[in-house]
Amino acid sequence: MLEALEAFRDEEPAYFRIPAHRFLKGLNPALTGKNLAALDLSEAEGLDDLHQASGPIREAQELAARLFDARRTFFLVNGTTCGNEVMVLSAVGEGEKIIVPRNVHKSVLMGLIMSGATPVYVMPEYLEAWNLWGSVTPEAIEKAFQREPESKAVLLVSPTYYGITSDLERIAKICRRHNALLLVDEAHGSHLYFSDRLPKGALASGADAVAQSFHKTAGSFTQSSLLHLGTGRMDAGRVAENLHLVQSTSPSYLLMASLDAARRELALHGEAMMEKALHLAALAREGLRTIPGVRVLDDEKKGIPAMFGKDETRLVFSAWDAGIPGYRLGTLLYENFRVSPELTDEENVVAVITFANEPEDIRRLVQAVKALVEQERSRKYLPEVHADERLRETGHSSGDGQYSVKNSENIAREFQVFTLPEQAATPREAYFARDWEILPLEESAGRVTKEMVVPYPPGIPLLCPGERITDEQIRSILRYREAGCEFHGTADQTVKTLRVLRQVRPAKKGNISNVTIQLAE
Ligand SMILES: Cc1ncc(COP(=O)(O)O)c(C=O)c1O
Repeated sequence: MLEALEAFRDEEPAYFRIPAHRFLKGLNPALTGKNLAALDLSEAEGLDDLHQASGPIREAQELAARLFDARRTFFLVNGTTCGNEVMVLSAVGEGEKIIVPRNVHKSVLMGLIMSGATPVYVMPEYLEAWNLWGSVTPEAIEKAFQREPESKAVLLVSPTYYGITSDLERIAKICRRHNALLLVDEAHGSHLYFSDRLPKGALASGADAVAQSFHKTAGSFTQSSLLHLGTGRMDAGRVAENLHLVQSTSPSYLLMASLDAARRELALHGEAMMEKALHLAALAREGLRTIPGVRVLDDEKKGIPAMFGKDETRLVFSAWDAGIPGYRLGTLLYENFRVSPELTDEENVVAVITFANEPEDIRRLVQAVKALVEQERSRKYLPEVHADERLRETGHSSGDGQYSVKNSENIAREFQVFTLPEQAATPREAYFARDWEILPLEESAGRVTKEMVVPYPPGIPLLCPGERITDEQIRSILRYREAGCEFHGTADQTVKTLRVLRQVRPAKKGNISNVTIQLAE
């Protein structure tokens, strides 16, 4: 493992991934220059106990609560994954309802499996020009409450992996009116609180509980996160008990120390750190904008339903119009230029820009994209080569062996699932069901899935346990498979087969088409 890590570091990549610190640069200097491994200790005398904090851990948690203006803050050593699980477990129990967008992170589903609650799914708005999911509107939440007035909580992701936020202030008011809790997965937003030029954070918008991956954007070690209670509406005692279910009894002191150290850096220098990140992001945008065929998400209008707000340090760009799909662009950026972006999808590339990046990183990124686009343009003068390569890269043809732009646009949409599937069983019922069988994916339409299917990253489920499988979902999985994406959640990692339930309640009329699905050519 160390050899692999050192080999990657020795490539000296321009790093635009998580965690936020870049090879020590963004760490609190108190953490560097020490032999940290020698401080890998446990609950020794005077070192406190995360599960019964009363000494330095408690003090560090209180300082974090003060910084974020939270009522109470808990250190997490199992990421926001366990923060989301605990928010769900603490808000809803067996048979209770919770409103969640269809594009939640899989950790929310894991919380639903643990709690036995029933999800009431809402669709986020679709940002057509970018083929990605954006904000959840207050209107969608209001409608969900009208549909299911007994819902006890709403859990939203804001900002998304792509840096898009929702109107949490209005949604918090709606939740209050319906006597429900607002829980926010702010995995990508710990840094929002340190600049007026960034969207307002969830705690400042009235959320009752918020989980933040401090490691992703705030400069602590990977896997360290914070769980904040913003109001007194969620029972802190229940939260503490539930944390026992999902966290180690031997939490790493190095992770906890790194949370405290990153908290201190933000408290002292947060505004300057964000100014630097925003400045670098602006440089990147300016550079990318000059490249023909390259678009940057921040140039889109903000305040529209699909993009209420946007974190500008999350750089989302596309060279699709220049003929380079997102997955391929990501691969070429690393293979040819040692530029390492966080995430790619069928169209877009996402680079995480933090206070620990340098102008040189940005220069390398922009130059690399420019060179790849120029290379692609020169290949266009060789139509046969281009068509053949595109066929190999996307696996699609217009029928006559020629690549067609119109087709490619349709294909990009085919990665998405636009309709809410029927929930035939709760995620927990499906997950623990004993009567199930294995079916080829293509024969599973109309059946109820036992497993979740999650292309990773970004970790957003296409199929959730207990859902009746639709043709649209199957087509989407096939598209991801063809694009070479990896899947989490399934026993068969290639998702050629799926585990489905044998016995479930009958399908609601009109909810499912029994059309046999036509497979990709
Ligand atoms: C939206 C979202 N929520 C939660 C998580 C899980 O966070 P962590 O990696 O801190 O466990 C992720 C991780 O990528 C995420 O993207």
